[in-house]
Amino acid sequence: MNRLQHRDFLKETDFTPEDLTYLLDLAANLKQAKKVRREPKFLRDRNIVILFEKDSTRTRCSFEVAAYDQGANITYLGPSGSQMGKKESLADTARVLSRFYDGIEYRGFGQERVEALAEHSSVPVWNGLTNEWHPTQLLADMLTMRECCPKPLNRQTMAYLGDARYNMGNSLMVGSALLGLDFRSVAPKALWTSDEVYEVACQIASKTGARISRTESVEDGVRGCDFLSTDVWVSMGEPDDVWKERIELLTPYRITEETMRQTGNDDCKFLHCLPSFHNRSTAMGEEIFQRFGIDCMEVNDDVFESPRNMAFEEAENRLHTIKAVMVATLADEPLVFEENIA
Ligand code: CP
Ligand code: NVA
Repeated sequence: MNRLQHRDFLKETDFTPEDLTYLLDLAANLKQAKKVRREPKFLRDRNIVILFEKDSTRTRCSFEVAAYDQGANITYLGPSGSQMGKKESLADTARVLSRFYDGIEYRGFGQERVEALAEHSSVPVWNGLTNEWHPTQLLADMLTMRECCPKPLNRQTMAYLGDARYNMGNSLMVGSALLGLDFRSVAPKALWTSDEVYEVACQIASKTGARISRTESVEDGVRGCDFLSTDVWVSMGEPDDVWKERIELLTPYRITEETMRQTGNDDCKFLHCLPSFHNRSTAMGEEIFQRFGIDCMEVNDDVFESPRNMAFEEAENRLHTIKAVMVATLADEPLVFEENIA
């Protein structure tokens, strides 16, 4: 039986370091096999459904392309057009969809929603982002870090600057704890990762050798880092009236060339799960920049348009890591690759 066969993929705290490393290795093999056009199809004729109560580009396209690459069929259900959550409970939706499909992806609001789907589903359920966790993004980030830093993950140092109470702040902290990193969560105290998540991460770190910290000081947080990471300042589903306060709180935490210099590491790279507000080039960016009279949010163009930016490698790795999650949890044959694909 494959290591994670029949398992759900809901949040990092459900997994061991070995599980995550197994998924990263599998993603690296799938990526390489696709590159040389010798990708084995482990999911032929499987049926996948992806449920999105929030918007998506990368996650949706990754699930769809991964399914096509692996020979599976896929159905997309968006925020409207199905009975889910309105006329039909998540529990009933899960029981119905389990009769049609071999795997269910869900992106939406509270973590309890994806947990409810999983509880009532007889097939694996994968979390494509909730308010609290973004575990498929964590895998893509760690694969990218493995690829573009010569040190192993357990010798790498990363700082996350931004709203640390939300999905990316939580997933990066617990994922880093599992994989043995030196991880610094850098934010004003009002936006710190909850004590609950921090304590879980510290407990994991005491076994893996990771170092997990929270600090308000950008200078202390970024010193010596191999990677600086950030996220949008206002996440999907948050009310519009939080922008003013968030901008005031987070402006000192934006990532500029100066922040990069403060790391003291010329090779330090930039990560961002995307989408990002690095300039005014989107309708929403233009509106926010104008409304608040600012010219930069979480990262500026100097960093975003520089060779330090690994966000597009990270975006590509969403495909390979999401494919690994689907293959690991669904495939019922041994995951054998042709020799010499490297
Ligand atoms: N990073 C990420 O989840 O992107 P999407 O919202 O486009 O899926
Ligand atoms: N924190 C962001 C992540 C987007 C991928 C959000 O939830 O909107």
